[in-house]
Amino acid sequence: MASLLRFDGRVVLVTGAGGGLGRAYALAFAERGALVVVNDLGGDFTGVGKGSFAADKVVEEIRKKGGKAVANYDSVEAGEKIVKTALDAFGRIDVVVNNAGILRDHSFARISDEDWDIIHRVHLRGSFQVTRAAWDHMKKQKYGRIIMTSSASGIYGNFGQANYTAAKLGLLGLSNTLAIEGNKYNIHCNTIAPTAGSRMTQTVLPEDIVEALKPDYVAPLVLWLCHESCEENGGLFEVGAGWIGKLRWERTLGATVRQKNQPMTPEAVKANWKKICDFHNASKPHTIQESTGGILEVLSKIDSGGGVSTNHTSHTASAATSGFAGAIGHKFPPFSSTYTELETIMYALGVGASIKNPKDLKFIYEGSSDFSCLPTFGVIIGQKSIMDGGLADIPGLSVNLAKVLHGEQYLELYKPLPRAGKLKCEAVIADILDKGSGVVILMDVYSYSEKELICYNQFSVFVVGSGGFGGKRTSDKAKVAVAIPNRPPDAVLTDTTSLNQAALYRLSGDWNPLHVDPNFASLAGFNKPILHGLCTFGFSARHVLQQFADNDVSRFKAIKVRFAKPVYPGQTLQTEMWKEGNRIHFQTKVQETGDIVISNAYVDLTPTSDISAKTPSESGELQSTLVFAELSRRFKDIGHQIVKEVNAVFEWHITKGGNIATKWTIDLKNDSGKVYEGPAKGSADTTIILSDEDFMEVVLGKLDPQKAFFNGRLKARGNIMLSKKLQKIFKDYAKL
Ligand code: NAI
Repeated sequence: MASLLRFDGRVVLVTGAGGGLGRAYALAFAERGALVVVNDLGGDFTGVGKGSFAADKVVEEIRKKGGKAVANYDSVEAGEKIVKTALDAFGRIDVVVNNAGILRDHSFARISDEDWDIIHRVHLRGSFQVTRAAWDHMKKQKYGRIIMTSSASGIYGNFGQANYTAAKLGLLGLSNTLAIEGNKYNIHCNTIAPTAGSRMTQTVLPEDIVEALKPDYVAPLVLWLCHESCEENGGLFEVGAGWIGKLRWERTLGATVRQKNQPMTPEAVKANWKKICDFHNASKPHTIQESTGGILEVLSKIDSGGGVSTNHTSHTASAATSGFAGAIGHKFPPFSSTYTELETIMYALGVGASIKNPKDLKFIYEGSSDFSCLPTFGVIIGQKSIMDGGLADIPGLSVNLAKVLHGEQYLELYKPLPRAGKLKCEAVIADILDKGSGVVILMDVYSYSEKELICYNQFSVFVVGSGGFGGKRTSDKAKVAVAIPNRPPDAVLTDTTSLNQAALYRLSGDWNPLHVDPNFASLAGFNKPILHGLCTFGFSARHVLQQFADNDVSRFKAIKVRFAKPVYPGQTLQTEMWKEGNRIHFQTKVQETGDIVISNAYVDLTPTSDISAKTPSESGELQSTLVFAELSRRFKDIGHQIVKEVNAVFEWHITKGGNIATKWTIDLKNDSGKVYEGPAKGSADTTIILSDEDFMEVVLGKLDPQKAFFNGRLKARGNIMLSKKLQKIFKDYAKL
């Protein structure tokens, strides 16, 4: 059990502790060993009158319970006197809870000077006076805990409380600065906005609610914030009824509405209003440095020629682009993209393939008989042109990579990606479009195995803030996104991404720190690292493949997506799918927010009829068939010889696409030995299961059957040791 938070020896001053919340704090502190100064002026809730009764009564209560407390009857405006009571009685001051308060509620027009002033004097000036009187003592002893009492009315505004809300939010400002100034002296200052039943709230809340909202449901937060072990400083908390929440500021990414040497106009403000007020991707500045840092960045951007309608975060800002004509058609130096099964599997895991789904095993286990590379791995093959900063080197096009957003993606496969490979890639700038607020660069990447075109990518990247040069808005080279059908989806699949999803996905080659480094993410205007758009893309494509193609990669032809919003690792991706012939339209949402993160997307599948024509439906179309046929022919002559050597019956299960496509038997036990299609007549000594492709690799000596067995690509039942003899058979008799 956690140890009790004690305050033995600590001197705690609670203002306005003669009733309501203050009393609850004073009792709770005393109960845990604190020496308490119970301050209360003893007037009514509007601040009229005074008396010692309220404070004395609470001191009496504390003493009766064995605690130590002294009373003080001064107004908080006389802060020095109150703190002196603490020093005189107990010799020090460790904690100040600024709690005293009154109300003078009137609608704004009816607030008199006196009502305005007294509220400010008690709440704001009173807290200032008491805290200032304690401050130097806390500084000297290098320890202090201070609470300011604000109010939800102050935070959000409340009818009839203009004087009170102004003072209450003023306390937050005071607290924010004390938190900064006090930090190096171990003086922490936090603000609470409580809700509790008290004489102050009994006029506005129903009686039973006043009863139920006990001050005791606020006090524990105050005690924790004032404990020496609490590191919180500069926090703002709403608290009541046993619930506590923390608040912070949020700021839109905003818009810069001025250009160098140009006047700033209200029309430009109006034109950018939506953007200025758009909280999408809002940042959460914690300090004034974070706040003004952004402003200074804007200044330097404007100075260097950026401006109007550009955001000032690093991922979205202006880029100087000119003379595009020379850039269109620019070819990048060819590069090669090499990958092994490791990369294939890492990618599959990065886009959420999981052992929880048995049909995914083929993507994450190289030993699966139908091990396959996910089709969307094709983007990894082609992305090197972008990742290596190629965009920055295009003649006639000056692109600041920090200002580039991945807008859309198209990928087409001409045959399933090999499980491992070395592809040669050629990238070219297909076109450049002027979208007003930015330019779109279409980059086509063709990937070849030898001379055979395996896949084609079109990366559509958006450079913010450099459009408006009068260029064309569309291109016949662009692979266009297509709107989803106007009806409920035919299928919906979901997957919850893990907190490590981006950390895992980046291992596939997109090392942008935006996806893993919180500092970098916050510089870019996100409150935490975001998932790669292409990771979400991989999840969605997997959903389509699972739902409509039974994970058969040979059916995957093409995919087009538009990236609409960021996803945070840990969120749940929900792919909504519509089948229209062989085109599966889809969009992807974040389930928690309902935000569409991939829009206007589709996957084109190869028609099933084509597939069945390509897929071996009869064993005769399997490569292994040729080998067995050849063995059969050869054994006719020499079978009797081998029978003596081997003396075993082997049954073969040859798989294709994960299913058993055919069975063969090599009988080297009976008669003079024979090879025939079908299961063993009689019983087999050893049954071997492997894919048609792996069978060929074994026969060609490229795959060691023992290794294949240990890594699961080859499965064997029965007398496994006998399979050793098989190696010899293949070596000696199956050379093709
Ligand atoms: P309360 O009226 O029960 O307690 C306030 C105490 O402050 C009274 O005992 C009063 O005599 C004392 N006081 C008033 N003026 C003083 C002065 N000049 N010097 C010394 N003591 C003085 O009210 P409650 O509800 O316990 O409020 C405590 C604090 O919490 C106040 O600052 C109030 O504004 C704040 N608050 C309370 C909420 C609630 O739901 N109860 C909501 C939001 C804020």
